[in-house]
Amino acid sequence: MDTLVLHGGRPLSGRIAVSGAKNAALPAMAAALLCPGEHRLRRVPRLADVATLSRLLAHMGVAIERGSGRRGGELRLVSPAACRPEAPYDLVKTMRASVLVLGPLLARQGRARVSLPGGCAIGARPIDQHLKALAALGADIRLAHGYVEAEAPPGGLRGAHVPFDVPTVTGTENVLMAASLARGRTVLTNAAREPEVEDLARALISMGARISGAGGDVIEIEGVEGLNPLAHEVIPDRIEAGTLLVAAAATGGEVTLDGARPDQLEALIDKLREAGSRVEEIDGALWLRSPARASAVAVRTAPYPGFPTDMQAQVMALAAVAEGSSVIEETVFENRFMHALELRRMGADITVTGRTAIVRGVRKLSGAPVMATDLRASASLVVAGLAAEGRTVVQRVYHLDRGYDRLERKLRSLGARIRRVAAG
Ligand code: EPU
Repeated sequence: MDTLVLHGGRPLSGRIAVSGAKNAALPAMAAALLCPGEHRLRRVPRLADVATLSRLLAHMGVAIERGSGRRGGELRLVSPAACRPEAPYDLVKTMRASVLVLGPLLARQGRARVSLPGGCAIGARPIDQHLKALAALGADIRLAHGYVEAEAPPGGLRGAHVPFDVPTVTGTENVLMAASLARGRTVLTNAAREPEVEDLARALISMGARISGAGGDVIEIEGVEGLNPLAHEVIPDRIEAGTLLVAAAATGGEVTLDGARPDQLEALIDKLREAGSRVEEIDGALWLRSPARASAVAVRTAPYPGFPTDMQAQVMALAAVAEGSSVIEETVFENRFMHALELRRMGADITVTGRTAIVRGVRKLSGAPVMATDLRASASLVVAGLAAEGRTVVQRVYHLDRGYDRLERKLRSLGARIRRVAAG
């Protein structure tokens, strides 16, 4: 297994372009199951999760090819006339987002057999809302032998009112895809408002779907008989952008991010300003300059447009070196503080009680060997390592590779001393 070796203490400085969003690329790839033909997707990041979903789609009969050279961000997906409607455990267990194939398979093939994803390092993460919504569209859903077995009624799925009990990102995306091919009108209430949901809606609309209201909590979908292949450019990754901004703030640095969308990063930018950074949009890029030491912040995660849970771990690393005491509350996932223990091993002063962490900032963290159990926790250890004195070795880098497109190269081009040591 690869490791990352960092020597901290140097402010990040420079300019870099943001990659495409993992959580927008994955549903758009799944949308290729909705109709046969050649789909094209641009700005697809190079990530382990994209490779995993590619393997899963290949299992269903979709041929996938990545462009080369300047077209390296482009995926060409050729969907067959009939897909194999099955997502096996071996592929689903490595990536929960595999559940995104359920809606499109059901709509297009009339049936699907998808392994239940199970819990993960950040919480139980049930999919009851996905299943309830698909049942409302008329699907017969059974759970057997660790699999969801779903079947559309004779004549196909039909539009319905779907009230979500909790706003769920992939749940909303699954139903958006299924309802696009259902008969009649579907209305989703308490839908997730994340920019990635809106991006999927844009992708589906480009295929001929009739969707309005995405980005708000009520979405209306008028089902159509058939869709055309997809041609879409994925939005830039707000979490990658956010991670780079936080890393700059934690090191007293200055960075400019090309392609970052300030309108999708408002809650984070507010907190970075509260921490003392100047953040501006300049000529279509996002610029941040941090004071030598950030100030404490109060953060409470919430569904979009609230503060993203996917930035909570990285902000905890910033709080660990800020002046004063920060309060960080996690309301989206029940078990997303595993990084706190590793940050403590680097000298951070953090007390966790239930879903709240109190972080008393220290002047300096000290580099240490550390290891994370999930993607964003790994990113927080990298941020901490950049701000720490001495050498940090981050193990289990495969978590980081799931969701960041060559993060160490980007950080190195911003002046960080970081290198990957390949497993021998
Ligand atoms: N929930 C339910 N029932 C459901 C679905 C969700 O109770 O059927 C609960 C979850 O347990 C959680 C809350 O609702 O407490 C929100 O979960 P959501 O379904 O929105 O999460 P997700 O769709 O599984 C996506 C991202 C996550 C991100 C969350 C929240 C993708 C592929 N994943 O997950 O991204 O944290 O939304 O914004 O889009 C990451 O990139 O590191 C990551 C974990």
